[in-house]
Amino acid sequence: MAAKKLIKNGIIVTASDQYEADILIDGETISSIGFNLSSADAEVIDAKGCYIFPGAIDPHTHLDMPFGGTVTKDDFESGTMAAAFGGTTSIIDFCLTEKGRPLQDAIKTWHDKSKDKAVIDYSFHLMIGEMNETVLKELPQVIEKEGITSFKVFMAYKNVFQADDATLFHTLKAAKDLGALVMVHAENGDVIDYLTKEALENGNTDPIYHALTRPPEVEGEATGRAAQLTSLADSQLYVVHVSCAEAVEKIAEARNKGVEIWGETCPQYLALDKTYLEKPNFEGAKYVWSPPLRDKWHQEVLWNALKSGQLQTLGSDQCSFDFEGQKTLGKGDFTKIPNGGPMIEDRVSILFSEGVKKGRISINQFVDIVSTRVAKLFGMFPKKGTISVGADADIVIFDPNHERVISASTHHMAVDYNAFEGMKITGEPVSVLVRGDFVVRDKQFVGKAGNGQYIKRNKYGATSQLKQNQTLSI
Ligand code: URP
Ligand code: ZN
Ligand code: ZN
Repeated sequence: MAAKKLIKNGIIVTASDQYEADILIDGETISSIGFNLSSADAEVIDAKGCYIFPGAIDPHTHLDMPFGGTVTKDDFESGTMAAAFGGTTSIIDFCLTEKGRPLQDAIKTWHDKSKDKAVIDYSFHLMIGEMNETVLKELPQVIEKEGITSFKVFMAYKNVFQADDATLFHTLKAAKDLGALVMVHAENGDVIDYLTKEALENGNTDPIYHALTRPPEVEGEATGRAAQLTSLADSQLYVVHVSCAEAVEKIAEARNKGVEIWGETCPQYLALDKTYLEKPNFEGAKYVWSPPLRDKWHQEVLWNALKSGQLQTLGSDQCSFDFEGQKTLGKGDFTKIPNGGPMIEDRVSILFSEGVKKGRISINQFVDIVSTRVAKLFGMFPKKGTISVGADADIVIFDPNHERVISASTHHMAVDYNAFEGMKITGEPVSVLVRGDFVVRDKQFVGKAGNGQYIKRNKYGATSQLKQNQTLSI
């Protein structure tokens, strides 16, 4: 158990406030916040010139995941260590399931991957690839015993992960009854399949065709369809990795009609664009994501959606592959390039630098987007996602003026490239604590594999009262 710590002279920023105060940590939680606090037996940490943010929460990671004929390079150790350097203190990773296999088996596989490796706290979303009596019978246990209260349905990756509309609709209805949030990868997999075959038949094999065969319309269509099905099921939906104006429009339209729909975007869609896929020497493969990078003008639409609240969160969609040996699997055939990129480390700093520093969002919105809103949507608030008495002492001491250049030569992810190589950013975590213990201290890693704890989450729409361990329905 962590000893007492007193953080002094920093400026606390939450989703709603900004003020200078001291924070006393006793063990794993915050025991007091106030002016000129003192405690004889506490270690004093000077945070002068720094902001104190609640630990960021990454709602979208794929660590140690088999995908695209290979396995993501960052596992729960390297991935969570890199996350900690970036100011992230909890992640929610996607647990893949297989048709016909008990959900509990898949969950056990994910526990085995993470248990002795994670350096920060973690939880799982559960993929739903089929919906039938067997799956339905298992779901209450998944929620009650495992605390997994979010289900992921893929509308793309035909013949791999893609589920049909009946499965999505049934999942939405079940989630409504059980108190879970349904998440969708919203792209029309059937149309992508058609366009992909057509491209290959015409000899179009370069990385740029990954983007050209997944145009914004296929994301907009699937997003609109998922929103309509959510409305029909009177359920709740979270759209992952929103990349384009067409999808934002569908989310905004549904929200305006009262549909409970939430949207996440990712750093790559805010700061990179489609031209990266045209880099020579097959380097465009480094920038292959699904949905793909878009024309540059979409970036401002996404920023405005974060500012106006039409999109609410930022996920990393961490899904990292080496360029050499993994991305190169797709030389001569873009469909064989593993989809995804390394993003877990720079997610928070990019939003701060490109968002807060450039005046696109406020500093309170920044905290809400990377931490508080995620905790609220995924049943972790107020233990996680804020700085308040009784909350877990998940804390980031952040220097807002430090300038650095992003590079694979200095990052902590296990991959051989960084998608933001050479980008100048301002603002960096100096020290990061998880439940009262330093994981990063003065930019040095001081954590330990296995110290991260599994988080059992509350049901969607339920919130816990700190200390009293009571659940209220809202
Ligand atoms: O390209 C991506 N996004 N890879 C990760 C898997 C997914 O679809 O989220
Ligand atoms: Zn996806
Ligand atoms: Zn993903």
